[in-house]
Amino acid sequence: MDYETILFEKDGAIATVTINRPKVLNALNRATLEDLDRCFQAIADDPAIRVVILTGAGEKSFVAGADIAYMQHLNPLQAREFATLGQKVMNAIEQLDRPVIAAVNGFALGGGCELALACDIRIAGENARFGQPEVGLGVIPGFAGTQRLPRLIGKGYACELLFSGDIIDAGEAARIGLVNRTVPREQLMSSCREMAGRIAARGPIAVRLCKDAVNNGIEMDLGRACRYEADLFAMCFSSPQQQEGMKAFTEKRPPLFDSDKD
Ligand code: CAA
Repeated sequence: MDYETILFEKDGAIATVTINRPKVLNALNRATLEDLDRCFQAIADDPAIRVVILTGAGEKSFVAGADIAYMQHLNPLQAREFATLGQKVMNAIEQLDRPVIAAVNGFALGGGCELALACDIRIAGENARFGQPEVGLGVIPGFAGTQRLPRLIGKGYACELLFSGDIIDAGEAARIGLVNRTVPREQLMSSCREMAGRIAARGPIAVRLCKDAVNNGIEMDLGRACRYEADLFAMCFSSPQQQEGMKAFTEKRPPLFDSDKD
């Protein structure tokens, strides 16, 4: 499929989506959000893809935010529609039934930080910078940053970042749990591919159901969430992948999860 503002590559079971507007530090305008929306729909329809890596083009930036030049002259209704489109993309990434790893290769500000928050796992290059600087532009985050940030890092740190608009480095982001880990910049993509490869080698149905259990269970009370987990656990036993995984263990060999249709 052709995209105007993103690049899409598939290498075996691993897909890489690269936001490709490096001249504006990969800022998200309407076209980019529409491309991402179409791309994640295509990924959802392709069962051969087991893990997605999301990154930004160029040396400097993951995504430096929603496109300020585009937003500057929006009226309130247009602004609502833009936020709704952005949130649709963030939701599509979060709700994709396969893991998405953000390879944060530089600035992840505003809508860029929100995009990273929608991913399941965030790995940052040492040059990465994070923040929600919207208040400095006289607005609040519109792609669900006020919601996902406190859920991920807790209300105190989230309020500090949201109210101050401060930009923090990769080390601080790791310290407060905003990223899983930092790696040297030149090792960022290889580290993400290595992690994606390890996930892709696991039982694909089990990985999908793990994401389902985490994302849906986290919004429930513990009792209902545990029952939901037990139901998904039971569902695993309807798949030959459960038999293969356990048989391989008893036969002391690696499992072969070669079919996505099991
Ligand atoms: N939108 C549009 N263009 C952007 C952009 C953005 N978010 N961020 C950077 N650019 C453009 C710059 O305008 C510049 O273009 P020109 O060369 O044509 O002037 C180009 O990218 C390079 O940027 P800088 O020259 O500013 O690079 P720098 O290294 O000096 O600074 C930076 C980097 C600190 C990231 C700075 O560009 C910056 O502060 N960007 C804006 C960050 C921001 O406020 N993001 C939040 C946006 S609001 C939002 O995202 C709302 C929401 O939740 C929906």
